[in-house]
Amino acid sequence: MSRIIIIVVLCSILTVQAKFPDDSKPCNYEDKQCIVELFNKLFIDKVVQIDPLKVAKMHLKQGVENPVRFDLIFKDNALIGLSKIRFTEVKGFAKDFAQKHELSINVKNLQMLGPYIAKGTLILLPVSGTGESNVTLDNTQMQITFTGNPFEKNGETYMDISNLELTVKPGRIYYHFTNLFNGDKLLGDNVNAFLNDNWELIFRQVEESFRSALKKIIEAIIKNVFTKYPYAKFFAE
Ligand SMILES: *[C@@H]1O[C@H](CO)[C@@H](O)[C@H](O)[C@H]1NC(C)=O
Repeated sequence: MSRIIIIVVLCSILTVQAKFPDDSKPCNYEDKQCIVELFNKLFIDKVVQIDPLKVAKMHLKQGVENPVRFDLIFKDNALIGLSKIRFTEVKGFAKDFAQKHELSINVKNLQMLGPYIAKGTLILLPVSGTGESNVTLDNTQMQITFTGNPFEKNGETYMDISNLELTVKPGRIYYHFTNLFNGDKLLGDNVNAFLNDNWELIFRQVEESFRSALKKIIEAIIKNVFTKYPYAKFFAE
């Protein structure tokens, strides 16, 4: 059904620390409050280097059911702010983890900075340009679900993940694109103002492809942490 093409290439793939941080006390299985606190420690640059995250290429397309084409390509961008993610709720994480897990996350400020190429028509407005962009998402709520899949490595059991689904609700988005229309200042200023005045409507046009792109990033982060340490390491026995 969907013919959206999503390309996300992460270049500097996350480095995960070799040692499990000693001051992170393992939790009892299914102990939501403890797991929330543990994840907030683990995912905040302590264990996984995610800030800034280099995104070699992200390609967003307007919703497929829309006859008007719009393409937005970000190349060699930096995604800044993922180290400030806050887990607010978890579900799952039982001893038997071959089941569905849920994570609720808040990201205060997420900035995507770097070169862009835009071409097409966005809500009846022709938009084209090549320059630098700043897309900033404030106060974003994310809901993540995935299935845990056990695998064995050196006699220990690790969790791989599959079927990751993600919903993204930004509280506000700020857009700034330099050099729109070959640097025509008046047109460029007008389009930037239009984008910011209609941030939510614009987001809905590219939401599906943005969500797929972010899904790949989030999946890589979660996979990196859980395939690095045995599952039991996160929990008290
Ligand atoms: C990007 O835009 C946001 C929101 O306008 C702003 O707060 C931030 O300073 C900008 N970042 C850079 C690097 O210009």
